[in-house]
Amino acid sequence: MPRLTVWMVRAALLHLGAGFTFGALMLLNKGAPVSGEIWRLLWPHVELVLVGWTLQLGMGVAFWIMPRFSGERRYGRVWLGWAAFGLLNAGVVAVIGGQWAGVDGLVAAGRALEVLAVGGFALHLWPRIKPLGGQAAGA
Ligand code: HEM
Repeated sequence: MPRLTVWMVRAALLHLGAGFTFGALMLLNKGAPVSGEIWRLLWPHVELVLVGWTLQLGMGVAFWIMPRFSGERRYGRVWLGWAAFGLLNAGVVAVIGGQWAGVDGLVAAGRALEVLAVGGFALHLWPRIKPLGGQAAGA
């Protein structure tokens, strides 16, 4: 497994842990209400499980399993993948921080980082989306 995949899947697991914990707290609070304040965890929960966990896991695994090149740079422009990793995690942190503090500008900046991350990752992956060598056309 390439190093970037290791980092992405581990980071995704951290998001999963935090996201599920927030979900569980909200669920508990629904069954046995403790405080209405717990509902402030809703948007961080959604951000963590959808972007931090689901999207990042998909990106990490895609980096690993998509067709590789035969030359020296087997994974193509790896720096774009690392940039996506940094931008995505910074984006999630900024969005959650902005939501928590009620700073719309920070939320918007975080979203912009996430969009850049996805764009950079797509740019990295694009040349790797190709039929396997020797495979018959149309197969
Ligand atoms: C990958 C897994 C998950 C995803 C994609 C996910 C996604 C979401 C989304 C999009 C919402 C907002 C729904 C809305 O506002 O209508 C939500 C709400 C919620 N989630 Fe999750 N979630 C996941 C896992 C979990 C887990 C494991 C738990 C509990 C242990 C949980 C507990 C909750 C609760 C309590 C709410 C609030 C529901 C309400 O409005 O009454 N979620 N989740």
